[in-house]
Amino acid sequence: MAALSAGTRWVVILGASSGFGAAAARAFAAAGHPIFGVHLDRRGAMPAVEALVAELRGTGVRVHFHNGNAADDEERGRALAGFRAQLDPDDEVGVLLHSLAFGTLRPMFPTPDNQAVLGRKHLEMTLDVMATSLVYWSQDLVAGGQLGRGGRVYAMTSSGSLAAWPQYGAISAAKCALESYVRQLAIELAPRGITANAILAGVTRTPALEKIPGADEIARRALERNPHGRLTTPDDVAHCLVALASAGTAWMTGNVLRIDGGESVSG
Ligand SMILES: NC(=O)c1ccc[n+]([C@@H]2O[C@H](COP(=O)([O-])OP(=O)(O)OC[C@H]3O[C@@H](n4cnc5c(N)ncnc54)[C@H](O)[C@@H]3O)[C@@H](O)[C@H]2O)c1
Repeated sequence: MAALSAGTRWVVILGASSGFGAAAARAFAAAGHPIFGVHLDRRGAMPAVEALVAELRGTGVRVHFHNGNAADDEERGRALAGFRAQLDPDDEVGVLLHSLAFGTLRPMFPTPDNQAVLGRKHLEMTLDVMATSLVYWSQDLVAGGQLGRGGRVYAMTSSGSLAAWPQYGAISAAKCALESYVRQLAIELAPRGITANAILAGVTRTPALEKIPGADEIARRALERNPHGRLTTPDDVAHCLVALASAGTAWMTGNVLRIDGGESVSG
């Protein structure tokens, strides 16, 4: 994508303040792209977000961050209005990255320690944030004319779309839906010259992973399998995303792409 004048091709990152989203913001900013980041953070976390924004601006690119629920229709409207106000006439969106982590980790059935079980509100919220919000953001950016020919949509999935883990049921369902939406975007956006791919990262130490019950065991097993002898990092994924966003990947769409250092193919 660098050949296509990075300075006018914004990278829109849903979930920009942490983990893969923050690493992608750093990597795309370093490659010269302006960054529009959406995140959901409480006041206590804002100093770290402000430091990230300052760091990104330090690379010389334009940066616009919006703190609010990316899955809320009115909030999305406000966020997009603020973003569009930043755009110069030649600006467009080169990449939309969906990297939201906000799921319920309740079991479906009562456990011996009597944990609260998954209800409709939790299930719907998880699906909305971690999957369906991708559709609405894509629709709005296409309808608004910002996301067009040469555009790239990436959505962070996980091996939860294939496997079941205790308390991960709602997020697993969201990952299946997310991958399905990506396939649908791929076929419906192909005539517009926009690609869509899901990114399946290896197990990575981020705040989202730490919240999953048994995170240490998940990380230990991944480390054991990974032929590189270490876990995936957010930077590993971010650097691949920058490379994938080049003009040469226009025919690559509708995939689930593994970026895991070989973790998943190792026995
Ligand atoms: N960490 C892993 O091992 C791993 C592996 C594979 C896939 N993933 C996926 O990668 C994605 C990002 O995860 P992460 O590990 O970087 O998480 P993270 O907790 O580090 O970051 C999550 C980001 O989402 C934002 N966010 C959460 N809910 C939001 C909402 N409603 N509106 C706006 N912003 C919101 C947060 O502010 C934050 O910026 C998730 O979809 C996750 O399932 C993670």
